[in-house]
Amino acid sequence: MDLIVHSAAQLLTIAGDAPKRGETQSELGIIANGALAIRDEKIVAVGASEEIRALATNETTQFDAQGKIVLPGFVDAHTHVAFAGDRANEFEMRLRGASYLDLLKAGGGIMNTVRATRAASLEQIISETRARLDRMLLYGTTTVEAKTGYGLDTATELKLLQAIYTLDATHPIDLIPTFIGAHAIPEEYRGRADEFVDVVVEEMLPAIRNSKFEIRNLFCDVFCDDGAFDVQQSRRILERARELNMPLKIHADEFANLGGAALAAELGAVSADHLMVTRRDEMKLLADANVIAVLLPGTTFGLGKTDFANGRAFIEENVPVALGSDLNPGTSWCESLPMILAMATRYEKLTTAEAIVAATLNAAYASGVGERVGSLQVGKIADVLIADVPDYRYIAYRYGTNPIQTVIKRGEIVRTAD
Ligand code: NIG
Ligand code: FE
Repeated sequence: MDLIVHSAAQLLTIAGDAPKRGETQSELGIIANGALAIRDEKIVAVGASEEIRALATNETTQFDAQGKIVLPGFVDAHTHVAFAGDRANEFEMRLRGASYLDLLKAGGGIMNTVRATRAASLEQIISETRARLDRMLLYGTTTVEAKTGYGLDTATELKLLQAIYTLDATHPIDLIPTFIGAHAIPEEYRGRADEFVDVVVEEMLPAIRNSKFEIRNLFCDVFCDDGAFDVQQSRRILERARELNMPLKIHADEFANLGGAALAAELGAVSADHLMVTRRDEMKLLADANVIAVLLPGTTFGLGKTDFANGRAFIEENVPVALGSDLNPGTSWCESLPMILAMATRYEKLTTAEAIVAATLNAAYASGVGERVGSLQVGKIADVLIADVPDYRYIAYRYGTNPIQTVIKRGEIVRTAD
């Protein structure tokens, strides 16, 4: 045994072998006075402190959680973390009344970040993204889904993929890559969206799929919305990606309901994301097709809007709900999943237990790594958090300060607060 963490007032195992939905979305699998043992980066035992401490040998380090809360590392199921520059000027313009979609349609918004990202060197993108990952780790994020999408040409999309792979290999956080070449219609294709879709399908997808990177599970995503891609264009891209054996995601119903959720169900996407204006009948389609709803309250908040996704309805309709930050420079520069939990509980009406499951096990399944991380179960990678709070509910109840005291990534203590 390398490390034993013991004496947790509550150890949340979140044990399960599938995404949790409906009634089970609130099952935390709490062990009072809990402990776990780690060997070679993996969890090898979970149980009562007395029982687990009996497994210690001379070589074992013992970590006393001193009555705090132990839970799995957070998984951020949806980010655009890899980019260059910022859009602080647009934030100020939006505060004065400009709308996000008007900025996008006028050639700003995502295109501003595309210009900055095309101009930046690989090293620059890596170093700016690494600083964000460092801060995310402090708040307990140990796995991150990371999208491309600020290249919109083959070379820059590949540069972003290279940045994501380099960071996965060199940063404690694990990154799961997603290709979203159809994130916006680039200015050079203004008014010729179908031609750009041809480029995504005929040039970018094969180039990404055949790139030198070892692709474990490279997702393909599309921004299906007003001002971006319609259902027909999204379908073309996602169907081609499916032929290439890529798992699918879709940005759907963030602004307008174009039918993206139904498309996700029809194509068997792993997740449909945003879903702020999704109807009940579409939720039923997602449930029947086992599509995970990735909800992103940071985006609604970040846009200063109030039409949060109806998380409660997704749970009632038996759709597994996951959470993500949507970290990006336009709508949601949020690096803290505890803050996302604070929003998801209040505005999307998840209970704290449901929100914790959404940001751990369900987010892991939404990112294609549910068999490896997301819960404290024997055989899983030892990504473990110690929260300095008296009760798990404080993780969403108290907000704006960091509840996470200690972060263990692959069995190594990578952060302990003073
Ligand atoms: O998820 N909706 C599309 N993509 C992002 C925004 C990206 C940006 O504004 O840079 C989102 O909100
Ligand atoms: Fe997004």
